[in-house]
Amino acid sequence: EVFDVVVVGSCMTDLVSQTPRLPKTGETIHGDKFLIGFGGKGANQCIQAARLGAKTTMICKVGKDFFGDNYIQNFKDNGVHTDFVGQTSDAATGVASITVNDAGENAIVIVAGANMLLSNEELQTALPAISHAKVMVCQLEINPQTSLQALQMAQESKVKTIFNPAPAIPDLDAGFYKASDVFCCNETEAELLTGSSVTNVEEACGAAQELLKRGCGAVIITLGPQGCVVLKEQKSTSDHVPTTAVTAVDTTGAGDSFIGALAFYMAHYPTMPLEEMARRANQVAVVSVQAFGTQTSYPFRASLPDELF
Ligand code: RIB
Ligand code: NA
Repeated sequence: EVFDVVVVGSCMTDLVSQTPRLPKTGETIHGDKFLIGFGGKGANQCIQAARLGAKTTMICKVGKDFFGDNYIQNFKDNGVHTDFVGQTSDAATGVASITVNDAGENAIVIVAGANMLLSNEELQTALPAISHAKVMVCQLEINPQTSLQALQMAQESKVKTIFNPAPAIPDLDAGFYKASDVFCCNETEAELLTGSSVTNVEEACGAAQELLKRGCGAVIITLGPQGCVVLKEQKSTSDHVPTTAVTAVDTTGAGDSFIGALAFYMAHYPTMPLEEMARRANQVAVVSVQAFGTQTSYPFRASLPDELF
């Protein structure tokens, strides 16, 4: 089977509380709303690509528990291929405790659990799917060595790679840059990786230059309401791609919606300029910030304007 998008990454059950503000140390506050949803950066990206019409497969590990069983059903409900979704009794399905404030901002604690047990053996089993895919996407909510191995396997087969270094680690293995056709992170991840402040478009352009030097094919730094900056190997200056201003309800997973959409565009329109893909991916992600929850807020192709396809 040939897949448009292969994601090697995480699944988390999101336990989301909405509160007026984030609690302080030692403090208990009342929240207004709660939901249990499907999350995890890898799965989020995969689900968004699938909802836009990409043929997707997920390579991941969940626990042999209620959350794990439900997660597999969620993939099936979204048309994601599940042959490479493993279940283990050695750890629980990953969970994320998420608090969202009135401004739509969040604070998240993840316990990765079963995600950390995804190993090179499972990648080898999935090699036929990896090597024939159009695009591979990886993040950092699984063992980083497994992510790096997956990206390198994809590159050896000339599969386009998108790497999202999230959550960011300060001592990122230099191999990740070389294994990334598109290195896509947000402003805080860019700060951590470059050691310089990234609070506006100008600083993001500087950080993109620095990251590009480390060996990736292109860099995208997402900037929330300011859109993103895109820097390609052949070009010496970054393009700022603005986005539409909206009132944010919940920005959790907006970056994942962007990356899932980007993967879809790279698979379906391989010759489209990267800035145009980023512009369209911004339009998809902006829908997601206007509703509560992570995957619950991701749009389907049918609800989006035709001009995005
Ligand atoms: O990027 C958003 C995701 O980060 C959430 O779904 C949560 O599971 C955490 O992994
Ligand atoms: Na949302």
